[in-house]
Amino acid sequence: MTRRIWTDKPLEGRRVVLGVTGSISCYKAADAASKLTQAGALVDVILTESAQMFVTPLTFRALTQRPVFTDMYDPQSPFAEEHIALARAADAMLIAPASATTIARLAHGMADDMVALTYLATTAPVIVAPAMDAQMWAHAAVVANVATIRERGATIVGPAEGRLASGHVGLGRLVETETLVGAVRAAIGVSGDLAGRHIVVSAGGTHEPLDPVRYLGNRSSGKMGVAIAEAARDRGARVTLVCGPIALPTPYGIDRIDVKTTADMGDAVRFVTEGCDALIMAAAPADFRPASTSDQKIKRTGEGLTMDLIPNADIIASATGSFVKVGFAAETQHVREHATEKIAKKGLDFIVANDVTAPSAGFAHDTNQVTIIDEGGRTEDLPLMSKYEVGHRILDRVAAIIATR
Ligand code: CTP
Repeated sequence: MTRRIWTDKPLEGRRVVLGVTGSISCYKAADAASKLTQAGALVDVILTESAQMFVTPLTFRALTQRPVFTDMYDPQSPFAEEHIALARAADAMLIAPASATTIARLAHGMADDMVALTYLATTAPVIVAPAMDAQMWAHAAVVANVATIRERGATIVGPAEGRLASGHVGLGRLVETETLVGAVRAAIGVSGDLAGRHIVVSAGGTHEPLDPVRYLGNRSSGKMGVAIAEAARDRGARVTLVCGPIALPTPYGIDRIDVKTTADMGDAVRFVTEGCDALIMAAAPADFRPASTSDQKIKRTGEGLTMDLIPNADIIASATGSFVKVGFAAETQHVREHATEKIAKKGLDFIVANDVTAPSAGFAHDTNQVTIIDEGGRTEDLPLMSKYEVGHRILDRVAAIIATR
């Protein structure tokens, strides 16, 4: 198997068929077509007749820079059996929005429009994102049809709860673009080099309470850990993200456990690493906590305040198990020396070191510049790159170590 070089475009060269069916949320499918294209995918859009009442083929043609399919009997088409050709070439098929009518077509094996026909003719993973009124979604006929296509292997994404076209609030909205793209990435990842593996990633800083309103914390945003989690998902891993208090959404398909303190993070990591393949500690757990926490808000007295801090346990150093252990070393000086010391001290397979004071790297940035140091002291300096790409460089090594165990 040739090793894939992962870049910033997780869907590079992948063929995605996007089936768009009749719903007011068709406009969101245009955004999905655009984001899938930006992620590197070659997106072949099929619009049903009803979809064309809401959006035009031209919209999708402009966004994907590719022909758009509307008619399976088009004598002008450059392809002989175009529905079969599209279905065969697809790495994934996304039907979004999927109307109640389309879901019925899929469940009953109808082939009377090009979306349903392509669904029947493909062996690629299929993701169906329903959008309809809440009453329709709850109807026994729709419930049964959805259950049928799910049993036959389709992944159903959503619908989400919120304001519907009718003006009512309920379950029936098409999920957001990030979720649609995440679902496609996860579906294609199923055949990746981490398929069947369980990777645990920690992200963000921890908060150690001083009183009910104040805490001791640090500036970790969680972006590095979340990017690694997404990269691992894209390669087929089952991913558990253990997060300190961070302001980032959970990417599609990733299990997330939220914690506040270092002690809680330690408990969660111990629990979820049981039988896992790798632990990547991208979190910045607080090393100290106040010796005592006040039940009530500490009042200003006009005097200074001295407080005792006691050490927290080192989570990764105390992690037991045969899984791959990857640490981070966020340093402000003598990066290599400090990072190298931590490998032995914490029993790591390798460490990812960075100078958090460097421009465009470290806390809160979308990019990072790191040096990877292994147990043998060998170092690899990586150039400035997105945190997602750094995630892949780390996972390249994790996958290689797992393969030898
Ligand atoms: N780490 C951990 N548990 C802690 C503190 C840190 O598991 N209580 C992990 C971090 O997630 C990281 C690695 O250990 O992967 C190194 O963290 P860092 O803060 O750089 O090192 P410390 O051991 O805390 O040492 P120092 O703060 O003195 O540099």
